[in-house]
Amino acid sequence: MSNEKINAQVIAVFPNKVRIVVDDLEDFKVAEESLKVGSYLKIEDNENAILIAVIENFQITVNSIGSRDHIIEAFPLGILRGNKFERGGDSLAIPPKEVRPAGIDEIKKIYEDSIEETERFTFAELSSNRSVRVPVNGNKFFNKHIAVVGSTGSGKSHTLSTLIQKAVSGKSGNFALNNSHIIIFDIHSEYRSAFPDANYIDTSNLILPYWLLNSEELEEFFLDTEANDHNQRYIFKEAVVANRIESFSGGADARRKIHYDSPLYFDIQKVLDYAILKNTEQIDSGEEYQSGAKKGQPKTTQGSLFGKLTNYVNRLENKINDTRLDFLLSDRAKKITFEQTLGNLLGYSDKNSNVTIIDLSGVPFEVLSITVSLISRLIFEYGYYYKRLRFNNNPSEKVNNDIPILLVYEEAHKYVPNSDLMKFRSSKKSIERIAKEGRKYGVTLLLASQRPSEISETIFSQCNNFIAMRLTNPVDQGYVKKLLPDTLGSLIDKMTSFKQGEALLVGESIILPSIVQIDCCLPEPSSNDIPYWKLWRDEWKALSFIELKSEWHK
Ligand SMILES: Nc1ncnc2c1ncn2[C@@H]1O[C@H](COP(=O)(O)OP(=O)(O)O)[C@@H](O)[C@H]1O
Ligand SMILES: [Mg+2]
Repeated sequence: MSNEKINAQVIAVFPNKVRIVVDDLEDFKVAEESLKVGSYLKIEDNENAILIAVIENFQITVNSIGSRDHIIEAFPLGILRGNKFERGGDSLAIPPKEVRPAGIDEIKKIYEDSIEETERFTFAELSSNRSVRVPVNGNKFFNKHIAVVGSTGSGKSHTLSTLIQKAVSGKSGNFALNNSHIIIFDIHSEYRSAFPDANYIDTSNLILPYWLLNSEELEEFFLDTEANDHNQRYIFKEAVVANRIESFSGGADARRKIHYDSPLYFDIQKVLDYAILKNTEQIDSGEEYQSGAKKGQPKTTQGSLFGKLTNYVNRLENKINDTRLDFLLSDRAKKITFEQTLGNLLGYSDKNSNVTIIDLSGVPFEVLSITVSLISRLIFEYGYYYKRLRFNNNPSEKVNNDIPILLVYEEAHKYVPNSDLMKFRSSKKSIERIAKEGRKYGVTLLLASQRPSEISETIFSQCNNFIAMRLTNPVDQGYVKKLLPDTLGSLIDKMTSFKQGEALLVGESIILPSIVQIDCCLPEPSSNDIPYWKLWRDEWKALSFIELKSEWHK
């Protein structure tokens, strides 16, 4: 394109806006490419820096001699010096020399050159030009926590599926299974169809031994923590520790170190027996009745806890007999080993798998928090101890975890809400700990939520990669805006009008904040959309109430 044809001038530069006036729009474009909102512009200065800006709006004004001017306002994304790209637009030397549209090939090159090929992880294309693939730096992306936010139906579940499907299919050599390890907490049974080869765990085959719960989780589960009863707590703790010691088969040194939080077997039935004993205890006073019907029998007095533990005994009995809690309390849960439990969660079972889906849809609501807490904590502690083990074996090693894990929480506001309610205490604590420290031990979070404003701020503020999809609730929008870098300008405001699968991708792993279309996943997660109209127009369907009842009462 010749220089005479360019008839555009920069008339104003602000930190978050560049205003350009164009006389003849026809001449101001790159051959074959039409200009629209979302197209890119290149603005050069005299120091070989090129500002890349994205068009936000067009206006037409009539100038003093009666002809029309076209005003274009663009948002500065960053500055290109040689092949290096820096965020922001403030370092452009003023006045700028030249402005022209950036061709697709130039934009492609910016994205391509931004990341070494071996580090590229690509799951989306530029929304304004679908022929431009948008890679992120896969190491940076998975090394920092990831948040996917968007209203229902914006495409979060599909995005999660796309990300995970791409992650498990990336290979640096010719082998069947790569070394990716992803655990999905699936609250609506959505993901099995997207990952047919996954290690699939639901309440029928989940075994999560109660004896792996730490003291806080144990108390939340077995005690009426709200009653804050010291007797209960004391008797419980005493019995748990005593039975751990009794059941322990290791050496005396290790035995002495057993405590309330040790992840060692104890028999819950023995804990109940002890509570019953204390609740009915009669203490021999050493004297005898001198007269009356009991003459000659030993005189007893009631133990100090006599009758005081009735509620606690009932509660324990109910728990032990509740078949819905078999995954925690059954004989299988008593017999499974620590190694098997951890192996199952990490995909090391009969058949190794990259993806483990933990279907929580059958877990009773009152134990959801401790279930999620226990699994999350085990994975975190895996990272911690595995690092320690590797460090002991080789102190000079730089990467202390060669088997890093991604934990995926769908509907994260359900496990880590922005509230201090007791019933979420455990899961919130475990996940917050991973948010704060997980990175050091190779444990990363991927959180998806339709209510970002209801997620614990501690967790959100630790996320570094954001995939913000269509978000319509103003409270959530405001909240997400606050979390994103304030240099994003009006890119954020587009969030309200995104199409399905469209997202604002922001974070250290990507060269420019970009509005992208996420690739479709295959196969898809199962949808929660029921086609009412189609189903209602069908003929009346039979319903087996007998089968329904047996499922209900299982
Ligand atoms: N990347 C995408 N491209 C095209 N359509 C998509 C994409 N992601 C999602 N969709 C469509 O949007 C709908 C809602 O997606 P879903 O992932 O269930 O949303 P959410 O989990 O946010 O409720 C689905 O019917 C799906 O077909
Ligand atoms: Mg969903």
